[in-house]
Amino acid sequence: MTFMPKSPQAGLDRILTLELVRVTERAAVAAARLRGRGDEKAADQVAVDAMRSELNRLPIQGTVVIGEGERDEAPMLYIGEEVGLGEGPAVDIALDPLEGTTICAKNLPNSLAVIAIAERGSLLYAPDVYMEKIAVGPGYPEGIVNLDAPAAENIENLAKAKGVPVSEITACILDRPRHARLIEEVRATGAAIRLIGDGDVAGVIHTTDPDNTGIDIYMGIGGAPEGVLAAAALRCIGGQMQGRLQLNTEEKVARAANMGISDPNKIYLMEEMASGDVLFAATGVTDGNLLAGVKFGRDSIQTHTIVMRSSSRTVREIKARHQDLEKF
Ligand code: FBP
Repeated sequence: MTFMPKSPQAGLDRILTLELVRVTERAAVAAARLRGRGDEKAADQVAVDAMRSELNRLPIQGTVVIGEGERDEAPMLYIGEEVGLGEGPAVDIALDPLEGTTICAKNLPNSLAVIAIAERGSLLYAPDVYMEKIAVGPGYPEGIVNLDAPAAENIENLAKAKGVPVSEITACILDRPRHARLIEEVRATGAAIRLIGDGDVAGVIHTTDPDNTGIDIYMGIGGAPEGVLAAAALRCIGGQMQGRLQLNTEEKVARAANMGISDPNKIYLMEEMASGDVLFAATGVTDGNLLAGVKFGRDSIQTHTIVMRSSSRTVREIKARHQDLEKF
């Protein structure tokens, strides 16, 4: 078990909030140059390079805990890699330099460059397996959704709490064969479904602004690393999320055990996936419901970033016009 609650006095330097924006901006611009080229790997690689070099300028003693993969499969930003200048606060880092590689390669909505930084020991060290997730935005009574409850019950409770008929609820679900039954169950309630091709970090964040995104609830199975990143985002904006690792082989159970996870069926609450003081930043690579994608002009590049902090619940949107193009 890696979740360790922190003392209320502990916290990250505020200045890091803005420093983080540079990190996701750089990764997003690099990936955006390869939007729509049909080459997921190349887009991911340039985003990784850009994020890593920018991270290494930060005054932190950072350890990547959610990254590009285990050391033997990812040469850069692998789990356990030390990043930063090696001075300043000791932090854990969860990152995805290009969340939605396929979306970016196809130039479809909602691919992002994403990072979360938290006090050391505050992020769940999740192996790169699947995670079953459920999430809703802020303003609902605690426990309104529950991974152990049937999908219909979660949808009906949510509709009641929102004060609308079930037909006015929209669930976001990854379009995968593994979700056939879930989709059937949700449709049977009369709720609508937004099926997304990829990108469930955005899918979860979208629940926090249903008026804009049209999404009330996120349900289904996606990546565990993306689950921890999404939990970090919700810790900052508000909302509720639960996740359960899909440890369905002995090998996965053993890998998880190596990372300190002793109960393979445990349901993790949002606060157990991301505790302590957390900073989260995401920059749009392609246009999306919450963030615009990178725009390349003749003399400038424009980026759109959301950056937030759990301890103050401040959510900032930063639209930047970059004119020193040599940096990019
Ligand atoms: P990548 O950026 O690694 O391509 O991940 C995209 C994504 O859609 C995630 O948002 C999601 O959690 C995961 O893939 C789902 O995995 P799968 O594509 O195997 O169903």
